[in-house]
Amino acid sequence: MTQPPICVVDDHEEIRNALVEMLELADYTVAAFSNAQAALLTLSEHWQGIVISDIRMPEMDGFELLAALQALDADLPVILITGHGDIQMALGAIRSGAYDFIEKPFRRDHLLEVVRRGLDKRQLILENRRLKHAIEAQGNDVIIGQSPAITALKEKIVRLAQADVNTLICGETGTGKELAARRLHEQSERREGPFVAINCAALPESMMEAELFGHEAGAFTDAKKARIGKFEYAHLGTIFLDEVESIPLSLAVKILRVLQERQVERLGSNQAIDIDIRVVAATKTDLKVLAEEGAFREDLYYRLNVVELHLPPLRQREQDIVLLFRYFVDQASNRFNIPAPDISLHVIDTLMQHKWPGNVRELINVAERFVLTDTLIDQHTLANWQSAPSLSSLPNRIEQYEKRLIEEALSQAQGSIKRTYEGLGIARKTLYDKLAKYGIDRHRFMDD
Ligand SMILES: Nc1ncnc2c1ncn2[C@@H]1O[C@H](COP(=O)(O)OP(=O)(O)OP(=O)(O)O)[C@@H](O)[C@H]1O
Ligand SMILES: [Mg+2]
Repeated sequence: MTQPPICVVDDHEEIRNALVEMLELADYTVAAFSNAQAALLTLSEHWQGIVISDIRMPEMDGFELLAALQALDADLPVILITGHGDIQMALGAIRSGAYDFIEKPFRRDHLLEVVRRGLDKRQLILENRRLKHAIEAQGNDVIIGQSPAITALKEKIVRLAQADVNTLICGETGTGKELAARRLHEQSERREGPFVAINCAALPESMMEAELFGHEAGAFTDAKKARIGKFEYAHLGTIFLDEVESIPLSLAVKILRVLQERQVERLGSNQAIDIDIRVVAATKTDLKVLAEEGAFREDLYYRLNVVELHLPPLRQREQDIVLLFRYFVDQASNRFNIPAPDISLHVIDTLMQHKWPGNVRELINVAERFVLTDTLIDQHTLANWQSAPSLSSLPNRIEQYEKRLIEEALSQAQGSIKRTYEGLGIARKTLYDKLAKYGIDRHRFMDD
């Protein structure tokens, strides 16, 4: 990798040459100038490297150059050259905002050390600026990433959103399958309709059938009231079948029939109800292989997989790692109201080397911990964090639990607000706030 350039300004030819030689011997690229004005013609806020300048020069001196450069780019490290033992001047340099100073005659090791630190700092500043611009350029786009894979994915989502065909989303854990499913819905003609997610692995077989198809009153022992199922509820919208590989074979036939006929029958009823839905399914497994092995119904597989969307793991889109990290650090910092710690080159290095088995979700956890603890991230802490339960998941889990309790209470109260907040022992307004927060529609729980 070529080193960023160093700008050297000194009116004394001998000193300048000595400095240039030392730096070039250390493999740096140097641009040398005998006066500040000439240097200013070359320097800009885009200068990739740093500046080393003498202080005493005719016409424009080192302090004036420093002031001009600070106006140009306050984050450009400027190292001033002071006389040996000239404490006043050294202090003056630092007070004026110089990054550091070096004394004449130069001690090679010290010079190279100061230069290396200055260049590291510059590189970090430029990297952060680049990321900031990149994030701004993403605008409101909720899928963050600039890698070719993600760019292609975003384009594909736009196209597929219009196509209104059943879509299968595949990818490892935490790669953004649900996010992609939501984007497919939000960018489609169905965006005004509901997005109904159901996790096929979360419910026992018996409950899942009732969840999906709904039931009439008296359809089974606990079915006191009729209830509409998720398929019906998703009418004119999108139904998201998450972890679709967990659909029991016994239910697969019934689901297939819904997809083919676009009709559902509630349990305990034989009246078919027309539904207009788009089915988006997600899986971590290779569903094709499961189908071939007979562990998943092959005809259902083909029905679901009219088109396939593949989400690449994070380790295959290295370009996005730091961008996403920066994005989630900013988000966490806003959420927790804690200033975002600096992201050092060391942190960036560590992030790049990590394999990210938990993909984007793991990266979010690391970013949150980074903001909350401001600890140095290295391979060791990452490994520890990985095995520890997620810090952010406690509030998340509490929220999930709260949401479920509210849904249960609503269901028992058949959507009655009064009975729900009384049952839960909370204020009416609190209930309304929570319904809004969790996007719960109480009408879902009313009898029709
Ligand atoms: N490219 C991305 N840009 C911004 N956020 C992302 C991106 N990819 C994933 N996320 C976020 O990462 C988290 C995990 O994503 P999501 O829940 O969609 O993953 P998943 O593939 O469904 O995971 P699982 O298989 O474990 O259910 C979510 O908070 C999601 O918003
Ligand atoms: Mg998911």
